[in-house]
Formats: sequence, C-alpha cells, structure tokens
Amino acid sequence: MSESESATSFTLRPATPHDLAPVTALLVGAHLAPNALDAQFGPQFAVAVDTVSGAVIAAAGIERYGDGDETVGLLRSAVVDAPWRGRGIGAALTHDRLAWAEFASLRAVYLLTETAAEYWPRFGFERTARDAAPAALAASHEWRQGCPASAVAMCLKMPQLRG
Ligand SMILES: CC(C)(COP(=O)(O)OP(=O)(O)OC[C@H]1O[C@@H](n2cnc3c(N)ncnc32)[C@H](O)[C@@H]1OP(=O)(O)O)[C@@H](O)C(=O)NCCC(=O)NCCS
Repeated sequence: MSESESATSFTLRPATPHDLAPVTALLVGAHLAPNALDAQFGPQFAVAVDTVSGAVIAAAGIERYGDGDETVGLLRSAVVDAPWRGRGIGAALTHDRLAWAEFASLRAVYLLTETAAEYWPRFGFERTARDAAPAALAASHEWRQGCPASAVAMCLKMPQLRG
C-alpha cells in the first residue's frame, strides 16, 4: 500500500502489532466488539493516522478465509474516531482495503454490520443471506458469534468476477 495524505491531514498505512491496542480502543469507543481482533491483525489491516499528533484515528481490516481461488475476505473493524467522521476517512480506508483485496485475488469480500448497512452500498456491497456465505467464512468466529443474528450480511464480488 502506498501512503496517502489528504487535505484533512491523515495518512493511511498498514497496521503493525503496536496498533492493536489503539484500534481496540477505537472499537470500544464506537461500541463495536473487538472480537478476536488479534487473530489476523497485521498488514491486512490499515490504520489512518493524524499527521499532526501521530495518533491512530481510524482503522479497517480484511480477514482471509478459504484456500486458493475460493479465498474470500471479511471486512471488519471499520471505525473512525468520532471527531474525524464525515471527512472521507472511512471511504479512503475502504477503497484502500478493497484494493488490497483485489491485489490478494480474493474472490469476494463480505461484511456484517449492525450500524452501517446504508453506508456500504456506495462501495458496491449488496445485502446477502448470512447463511449463503462460503463454508470457511461461515465457520469463522465473527460469522458464527461475533455479530448477533440481527446483523446485516453484505457481499462485494471482486471486479474480475463481475459481469
Ligand atoms: C461508518 C464509518 C466508518 C464511516 O466513516 P466516515 O469517515 O465517517 O465516513 P465518510 O466520511 O467516508 O463518509 C461519510 C458519508 O457516509 C455516511 N455515513 C457515515 N456513517 C454512516 C452509517 N453508519 N450509516 C450510513 N451512512 C453513514 C455519512 O452520512 C456521509 O454521507 P454523505 O457522503 O452522503 O454525506 C464511521 O462513521 C464510524 O466509525 N462509525 C462508527 C463505527 C461503525 O459503525 N463502523 C461500521 C461497522 S460495520
């Protein structure tokens, strides 16, 4: 991932192990559960950093499930610190992670949301049946018990498979 900076003074970079604690704090602050966040935490996640203070102000990550051509992603832990919302940081992180997913040749990217079902369609996500997920994803902690049954499941097929 190339670093990017915008007029709103944030920089995106891959997450490192040192970011686990601040990202957990962001999730807790947004009333999102950091379920098993450490399981795949690392460069599959990206963080946004305040270019002035250096503080981690936002994050999003993609976990991988399955093998080979059938590997899919789970976009999770998308969070922007409240004072920074509405400045395009969530969009920048999402585009960054979807570019990563395409580079990683993921077949599709899924997510579960209780709070932002109206946010994700702008990136191409469509609602899907939770029980229609591939078996490897369906067996994951997040899919089985990380979100309640009321959460909305969404899916984005990656560009090479569209049409
Ligand atoms: C959802 C979230 C990541 C979006 O990040 P952001 O940086 O504020 O969003 P952006 O600046 O990229 O986009 C702003 C747009 O998204 C919309 N939006 C923001 N949060 C939204 C939500 N929860 N549901 C629907 N739309 C939302 C805004 O109304 C705005 O719409 P507009 O472009 O029509 O004016 C952020 O608001 C957040 O951290 N929310 C709390 C945690 C959360 O719910 N995470 C999602 C878990 S699936």
